[in-house]
Amino acid sequence: MARRPPPPLLLLLLLLFLPPLLQSRGCSPCFWFATPDTVQCRFVELQEPPAELPSAVRNLTVVGANLTVLSRAAFAGGWAPGAPSPRRPLLHLTLLALLRSRIEALEEAAFAGLPSLAALDLSHNPLRRVSPGAFLFCAPLHRLSLNGALTAGRPAEELLGSALANLSLARLELAGNGLRALPPGWTLPASLQELDARNNSLQEPRPDGLAAPLLRLQLAGNPLTCDCPALRPLLLWLGNATWRAPDRRELRCAAPPQLRDALVLRLRPRQLKCLEEGAAWGLLEPVGGPEPKELETVSYVFLGIVLALIGLVFLMVLYLNRRGIKRWLNNLREACRDQMEGYQYRYEHDSDPRRASPGGL
Ligand SMILES: *[C@@H]1O[C@H](CO)[C@@H](O)[C@H](O)[C@H]1NC(C)=O
Ligand SMILES: *[C@@H]1O[C@H](CO)[C@@H](O)[C@H](O)[C@H]1NC(C)=O
Ligand SMILES: *[C@@H]1O[C@H](CO)[C@@H](O)[C@H](O)[C@H]1NC(C)=O
Ligand SMILES: *[C@@H]1O[C@H](CO)[C@@H](O)[C@H](O)[C@H]1NC(C)=O
Ligand SMILES: *[C@@H]1O[C@H](CO)[C@@H](O)[C@H](O)[C@H]1NC(C)=O
Repeated sequence: MARRPPPPLLLLLLLLFLPPLLQSRGCSPCFWFATPDTVQCRFVELQEPPAELPSAVRNLTVVGANLTVLSRAAFAGGWAPGAPSPRRPLLHLTLLALLRSRIEALEEAAFAGLPSLAALDLSHNPLRRVSPGAFLFCAPLHRLSLNGALTAGRPAEELLGSALANLSLARLELAGNGLRALPPGWTLPASLQELDARNNSLQEPRPDGLAAPLLRLQLAGNPLTCDCPALRPLLLWLGNATWRAPDRRELRCAAPPQLRDALVLRLRPRQLKCLEEGAAWGLLEPVGGPEPKELETVSYVFLGIVLALIGLVFLMVLYLNRRGIKRWLNNLREACRDQMEGYQYRYEHDSDPRRASPGGL
């Protein structure tokens, strides 16, 4: 009887044979699917937007294609020369996600012909060129994701310019782009309510430059520098409007070395080496009183002092009572001796053979 291979071995075999199996069926990593009317899945290498989409399509997701350049009305069949509108508008398309599809350039009016488009996700594409009019005819667009889509280390405004300024976006995602500074206010639409700048390289974020009054800013995963000048703009901007930073409890320091990984809201103004205390530091928690860790140390020290005092008092009592104690010890010894003698006497008595009564009388 063959023994069953242990599960890890099975898994390994599966991992070894799965990729060739997929390839032998003609599957490459590229697929696209559309909902709700038709859920289609094709394993073809897309070089351009899928040509025959159902006109009722609402959500369209493309992953791992090779689209390179999105030209005018790319998803609406293009724009015939001289024609008043795109060839086949997709009137109901509300969500378009083009992920990891090697998109490098967005030409003017790339998303024309999609009058209902509300959410556009271009995450994880190597964008190099964005026409200032790339989002023309995207009036209802309220959510745009560009996570991992800008060249790391390049300022956002270099690529985006004013392309977003006229949109009515409510949420913009710029996570994981290696940004060293927040995009300046003029690049952002005034309607913006949420800006996701997580996982970037922001050391000294200056949100005071963001004009939108109702803006919430996500900053977790940035290597913040925790000293007075670097943190002051952020803390002042938050003031007591803490709703502006929904992930404020996750903000961590990356520098200076002694504060690495410390939670920003747990810092004390003293640790930031601030010369003056003031409104900016009201945000730091807990307000007043030492940090919990400090508190622990303090309570241990306190306990030690109390124990030492008790010990001292005990020793003093012993010392002051040394005569009494001596007397007491003597008494004790005497009592013991009496007792022992009593035992000895009884033992001798009991073991006296003459006293042993003869049995069976
Ligand atoms: C389309 O996408 C939106 C947003 O992600 C989602 O809420 C909705 O359920 C999707 N609709 C369908 C039919 O998949
Ligand atoms: C992607 O398409 C471009 C041209 O559009 C081509 O040069 C390139 O080889 C393609 N890349 C892959 C991985 O297919
Ligand atoms: C944005 O709107 C202003 C004024 O409405 C206009 O002058 C400008 O050309 C627009 N920019 C873009 C990129 O559409
Ligand atoms: C940020 O990076 C962490 C760790 O790499 C990851 O788990 C998280 O999903 C990322 N968040 C965003 C919004 O990209
Ligand atoms: C901060 O709170 C005080 C009182 O709690 C309030 O008067 C003040 O307007 C608040 N400031 C901001 C910027 O929200």
